[in-house]
Amino acid sequence: MKLKGKIALVTGGTSGIGKATAQLLSEQGAQVIITGRNQETVDLTVAEIGYNTIGLVSDAGSMNDLLNLNHLLRQYVTQLDIVFVNAGFGKYAPLEQIDEAHYNEMFDVLVKGTLFTVQQVVPLLQTDSSIILNTSIVTEIGMANSSVYSAAKAAVQSFTKTFAAELIPKGIRVNAVSPGPITTNYFDRSNLSAEQVAQFTSSFAPQVPMQRFGTAKEVAQVVLFLASSDSSFIVGTEVSVDGGFPKIKTT
Ligand SMILES: NC(=O)c1ccc[n+]([C@@H]2O[C@H](COP(=O)([O-])OP(=O)(O)OC[C@H]3O[C@@H](n4cnc5c(N)ncnc54)[C@H](OP(=O)(O)O)[C@@H]3O)[C@@H](O)[C@H]2O)c1
Repeated sequence: MKLKGKIALVTGGTSGIGKATAQLLSEQGAQVIITGRNQETVDLTVAEIGYNTIGLVSDAGSMNDLLNLNHLLRQYVTQLDIVFVNAGFGKYAPLEQIDEAHYNEMFDVLVKGTLFTVQQVVPLLQTDSSIILNTSIVTEIGMANSSVYSAAKAAVQSFTKTFAAELIPKGIRVNAVSPGPITTNYFDRSNLSAEQVAQFTSSFAPQVPMQRFGTAKEVAQVVLFLASSDSSFIVGTEVSVDGGFPKIKTT
């Protein structure tokens, strides 16, 4: 019960990494608030996580929803201790096929979403609280067809350091988790066809030194570490959860 008495917000908490994190933080004693875009999915997830969980419909790509987030949260809580800014998805296209809608969609949810979520939650955060952003290994490699997604995640990587610098005086630590390939609904919800997803996942796993995709729970455990006082002297950094990809070569 590392988080007894704490209140945690997990954006994009209805699936994958966010849902696994919400479950783990709840098991560790935190009251958890999740967001998602769909009332039905939010309600189902709240019922699944159970004890003391609150679900909010809030679209991290919508400026109206982002600017209403503080007000919405205040209807349920007066303070927060942990915020995992996780909501997101990926779209892929070669350079010549990228259009403004693709650019806006990625930058809205990942860059604008992260920036204004943090802006909205800071007034609710207590001294000794923790914000964890979700970046990606794509910031470390040049992955074909991912220029917009990778650039957006690179912006989030940059926020990790600037937010950390600005928020240290308020007693708020900002860090990020950087997942490698993780088995979630992420690839199915991208704009890749089922065939492309199957091809990508089968060709990707052998490139990971640990020869497999990670699980959402393996990422959640690192978020728990960054959320708790176990990481009390860690700030402004990214922790990779990537099975060694792309840093280590085993052959
Ligand atoms: N899986 C990977 O390999 C991997 C690797 C690196 C980084 N990541 C990052 O990890 C994060 C979570 O992805 P995942 O793999 O867990 O995928 P996932 O299983 O598809 O979950 C995505 C979550 O984000 C929510 N979401 C998406 N867009 C949203 C929006 N505009 N507003 C609010 N919630 C939104 C979804 O909820 P609703 O659909 O119910 O709204 C869902 O709860 C993303 O930021 C992704 O970029 C994933």
